Amino acid sequence: MDSLRDLEAALGQAGSAAAWQRAVAEFLKRQTLWYGHGADSAEGEAAWLVDWLCRDGGPKAAQAAIVTGLLRRRVLERVPLAYLLGEAWFAGLPFRIDPRALIPRSPLAEIIERGFRPFHAGTGRLLDLGTGSGCIALASAYHGDFDRVDAVDVDADALAVAALNISRLGLGDVVRLVKTDLYAGLGDASYDIIISNPPYVPTASMQALPPEYRHEPAHALAAGEQGLDYVDEILRGAAMRLRPGGMLFLEVGEAAAALERRYPTVPFLWLEFERGGEGVLALEAEQMREYWSVDRA
Ligand SMILES: C[S@@+](CC[C@H](N)C(=O)[O-])C[C@H]1O[C@@H](n2cnc3c(N)ncnc32)[C@H](O)[C@@H]1O
Repeated sequence: MDSLRDLEAALGQAGSAAAWQRAVAEFLKRQTLWYGHGADSAEGEAAWLVDWLCRDGGPKAAQAAIVTGLLRRRVLERVPLAYLLGEAWFAGLPFRIDPRALIPRSPLAEIIERGFRPFHAGTGRLLDLGTGSGCIALASAYHGDFDRVDAVDVDADALAVAALNISRLGLGDVVRLVKTDLYAGLGDASYDIIISNPPYVPTASMQALPPEYRHEPAHALAAGEQGLDYVDEILRGAAMRLRPGGMLFLEVGEAAAALERRYPTVPFLWLEFERGGEGVLALEAEQMREYWSVDRA
């Protein structure tokens, strides 16, 4: 089934959600697409799309044209499915999403879903640096037991998406949004956990990204020649602001090797994930203070 016309005809005949899913997956598999913005395969995207239809009382024959309309943009414009549907799932929670913010997909979800155990009790005060849609801050507030979560971003558009998600998830009593360049607007606040999925894509990799990534804000991805433009300040700031017993969780993706070269003596703990993903490190406050020689809690 190569064409959208064939797909629409097949959906018109498909009698069950499973048959819709098979027809959509078969169509997607014949296209040139990049997966990894919320589903990692044609089958995953087909299941997500049909689940979305089911939530709207479908799938029914009248929705065949809606599906082919969405898939036309998916194939011709390479728009990620999350932006087409206006939703993304992260740590088991639904998020509103649009091209003002990066599509949630960080492997940090696995740690957050466990309430940060066994690394930390998931209590006290948490800072999410570069919150985008708010997914990490909000999922942490939901799965953890924090008194307060500060969610910061330099981009007012991304914060507008985060605000939608705060009200949708009803977490406004715990999560506070702050528009600031990293720590600059946080006064002398200290934290039990600092967590961040900052921009970390090196310049050369930016140029080679599949077309799907070009629908996301470039400033949410690009981080200079080595992908480390934000990391020094995040590490130094965390050493100063983490409370005793506190922890930093930092995603640096493909910039991990460059980070190891820059800080050869720092004992980064590289985390492993059941659902895949790499380039995420953890550091304890005490280890950080030793390396950055800070004597302030
Ligand atoms: C990779 S995205 C992560 C978004 C979200 N945390 C997630 O995991 O989906 C990085 C975010 O950092 C924000 N950002 C970039 N530079 C920043 C800065 N100097 N201070 C604060 N946030 C920044 C971007 O606007 C973007 O929302």
